[in-house]
Amino acid sequence: MSSQVDMDKIVSLCKRRGFIFPSSEIYGGLASAWDYGPFGVELKRNVKAAWWKSVVHDRDDMVGLDASILMHPQTWRASGHTENFTDTLVDCRNCKKRFRQDQIGDTCPSCGKKDFTEGRAFNLMLQTHLGAVEDESSVAYLRPETAQGIFVNFPNLLNVTHRRLPFGVAQIGKAFRNEVTPGNFTFRTREFEQMEIEFFTPPEEAPEWHRKWIEGRFAWYLENGIKKGKIRRREHGKDELAHYASGCTDIEYEFPFGWSELEGIANRTDFDLKQHAESSGKDLQYQDPVTQKKFYPHIIEPSGGVDRATLAFLVDAYHEEEVKGSPRVVLKFSKALAPVKVAVLPLLKKKSEIVTLARSIKTDLQKDLVCVYDDTASIGKLYRRQDEVGTFYCVTVDVQSLDDKQVTVRERDTMRQERVSVDQLKRYLMEKFQNQSAVE
Ligand code: GAP
Repeated sequence: MSSQVDMDKIVSLCKRRGFIFPSSEIYGGLASAWDYGPFGVELKRNVKAAWWKSVVHDRDDMVGLDASILMHPQTWRASGHTENFTDTLVDCRNCKKRFRQDQIGDTCPSCGKKDFTEGRAFNLMLQTHLGAVEDESSVAYLRPETAQGIFVNFPNLLNVTHRRLPFGVAQIGKAFRNEVTPGNFTFRTREFEQMEIEFFTPPEEAPEWHRKWIEGRFAWYLENGIKKGKIRRREHGKDELAHYASGCTDIEYEFPFGWSELEGIANRTDFDLKQHAESSGKDLQYQDPVTQKKFYPHIIEPSGGVDRATLAFLVDAYHEEEVKGSPRVVLKFSKALAPVKVAVLPLLKKKSEIVTLARSIKTDLQKDLVCVYDDTASIGKLYRRQDEVGTFYCVTVDVQSLDDKQVTVRERDTMRQERVSVDQLKRYLMEKFQNQSAVE
């Protein structure tokens, strides 16, 4: 069995099977913009649901938020993004190519000359104008991170939740960055989704919570199916830290293009609340209900990319195998993440009793499990098709089913087949999904 995977195979499978399409393809596509197709959108929803369950619903110390993408422009001055959220660009005077200074050495990667312009700062925030008049006063930004929506809502969140420290806020939403060098498929794009947590702690507890969140977030990727050895933690050196962070550990995945960041878990100290308090004139301190002491909480921020996590789960699930002399491509997603749980396949689409039984099985199952129905090819092809999108079980209705009221259930990874009676089918499948661990 081979598990060789390269990005071309992933990109091609994603297009062919409806996970991810190039954006506005009929016009030639738009660099670094991608659309999630029928299976991609299910996969991405499952990634977000697994995250939300793990960091909000399964905990006692977290709540959720969905803040606006557009925020008061002062937010970005206070956060430091207007000034600091920049890449330094240089141009090669010889070949006229433009590069991010931190991504190249002394010589031009394109022509090999050593004749660069002075570096100049390029702000990554995408700018727009609100309202009918386009002038300085109407400038707004598409948020480059979801985090600030949580910080500016800190007093609202305290008021409505009556929380004591430590507690955290989770948010999933779009973010935008005018990346100079987008690429590697959905890994680095200009529009992407983040899943971020801002965890507010007493200052003295921040290092311990930082450690706990690094462990917890690392475990989440493994629990959802990433293979051991394909992810690792990497602590930032002092010179790589963002302007707001006192420490940061990345969780990295070994993509075909190398080890790359999935998520950063930063200790943001009291930087954000202090900055916004100063800029807004509002008191953003926390008052301890017992001691009455007021102070700025410190913030631990596990910040991940939905698109990057989805890509890692796709790459990690990809397997090529040889079955009876022919190749089989199978996406071995965990049960929680598989975009489709069950496919119902009639063996003979011309036999109306088979179709009627298969349709009624699907109608019954789809109330509780994401199902598809497919009768557009031979059974061998239908199985391969479902393997390629990672469907966990295939239920085949055949001529014998009409007599013995049983169907064949085929398991994706082992390809083992079992006859199960139609009346027991739903219970049988539900038990498989409920009683076994997500990774199986
Ligand atoms: N609030 C902190 C923050 O935004 P970041 O390291 O800049 O930190 C967090 O971004 C995560 O967002 C990254 O680990 C990555 O998963 C995702 N991300 C950042 N830029 C991205 C891009 N251009 N395309 C796709 N995902 C991106």
